[in-house]
Parts: sequence; structure tokens; C-alpha cells
Amino acid sequence: MSAETPPKRLSTGDFKKSQTPIVCLTAYTAPVARLLDPIVDILLVGDSVGMALYGFPDTLSVTLDMMIAHGAAVARSTKHALVVVDMPVGTYEKSPDEARRNARRVMNETGCAAVKLEGGQEMEATIRHLVQSAVPVMGHVGLLPQSVKQMGGYKIQGRDEEGAQKVMADAKAVANAGAFCMVIEGTIEPVARAITEAVSIPTIGIGASSACDGQVLVINDLLGLTEKPPRFAKAYATLAPVITAAVKSYADDVRARRFPDPEHVYGEKR
Ligand code: KIV
Repeated sequence: MSAETPPKRLSTGDFKKSQTPIVCLTAYTAPVARLLDPIVDILLVGDSVGMALYGFPDTLSVTLDMMIAHGAAVARSTKHALVVVDMPVGTYEKSPDEARRNARRVMNETGCAAVKLEGGQEMEATIRHLVQSAVPVMGHVGLLPQSVKQMGGYKIQGRDEEGAQKVMADAKAVANAGAFCMVIEGTIEPVARAITEAVSIPTIGIGASSACDGQVLVINDLLGLTEKPPRFAKAYATLAPVITAAVKSYADDVRARRFPDPEHVYGEKR
């Protein structure tokens, strides 16, 4: 038996306000999740999968079955990070009971630790119902990609006094309802800072400044695989030309009959 203790999977209870920022990234597939798992705190199987993997223009065509397939792939191939799966549009807004049924399916069929859903005051009763039904919830306030049509595009929220008060009220509603943490997306620094100071649960920012308790990025943006990344996204690598160069080398080798070479060919049985 190994003397090493196996790494403990982080749980929602491990995420409290602290000086050390929370590191969160999206992941959708097993090979990428396996690479990120030892390094990050939270793996978010976001409905950004719609754009990142499926070529949709937004998140509105993502289904529960897609989220379950990708959530299960990420959960089964990781052992350290907390895995959170997004509830896609149309699966939780109608009633708290419908939200509970769909969220339970996500939890049971993926093995994830929590679900994420978008919305503030209008989702307070639903979040409370989920939490009381033993479904941990990550909230999401500010810019809500699932409401892109109602919001008139991907617009930064909270830029005027009325908008700032709304984002704050949404964040307080999410915290009061019992969410264990919340994403703040697309708002200005003073709003993100005021929310982070006002609520007792950690805030995780995306396009919401460093005033939050943690940060999340879409993995494709971080790796330089997004054609037109948003302003807030920082590419820490430029993988697109690396992939193009590798595929060009392969195509050249096949066309010149250099691949497969002897080392990649099976010999006779002796
Ligand atoms: O779907 C997603 O990836 C998200 C993050 C951008 C927070 O919701």
C-alpha cells in the first residue's frame, strides 16, 4: 500500500472568503480536464461549451444532455478540483421544482459537486429550493449570456447608478438564497468590489476586475483558440498556430509518403 494519501477532492465547503484568490477555469473534455485538475480549484463545465466546442454563436442552443455528457467526462477524469456544471437556458427558469428535477439529473448523471445558474433576484426562490434539496449552487450575476437577447447584446452591467444597484441587489439575493459562491460577469471594478465586500460568499470574476475573490476564464480564450476573444480574456498561450503547424507537417508527410515510417508500422509475428 502506498504511504501517500490520495489527493482529496475539494468540496463546496472548502470555498470561504480568504486572502488566497480562487482559481477557476472552464473545461469540457476529459484530456483537457485531466491537465487542469491538479492546478485549479474549480473546473466549470460552462455552457460556453456551445461556442467553444460546437460552433454555436451563443449559449442558447446548449441542451441538458450536452451539459450532462461534458460534465460526466470532466468529473470522471479528475480527482482534485471541484466540478461545477452549468444549467443551460430553459432548464431551470420555469419553476423551482423543474429546476430541482433537472439539477438532480445533472448531479446524479455527472457526479459533479454543484450546478451553476444565471440570475439574481428572480432566481432567489429557485436557488433556495435547490440548496434545501441538497443541490449546491454557484450563482451568476452581472452580464448574463443566456439573456443576451433581453440585454440587447453582451453589454457591461452596472455602469450607471441604477444598473449598479441592480447588480448589487442580484448578488445579495443569490447570497441570501444560500449559494456557496457566485460568478460576477461583465461589470465595472467599483461594483465588483462593493459586492465582494457586501456578501459573505466568495465572488469569482470574469470581466469584473481583480476586486473579486477569484477569477474564471474560458479555457479556449486562455489557450489562444478563440477567433475573436473578448477584451477581458488574456491568452496565456497561442495554440492555434501550433496546431496548424503540426497538422501541416502531418499532411506534408502523408503526401510525401514519409508517414507512417518504420517505427510506426507493425512487423510480422516471429
Ligand atoms: O459558461 C461559462 O463558461 C460561464 C463562465 C464564463 C463563467 O458561465
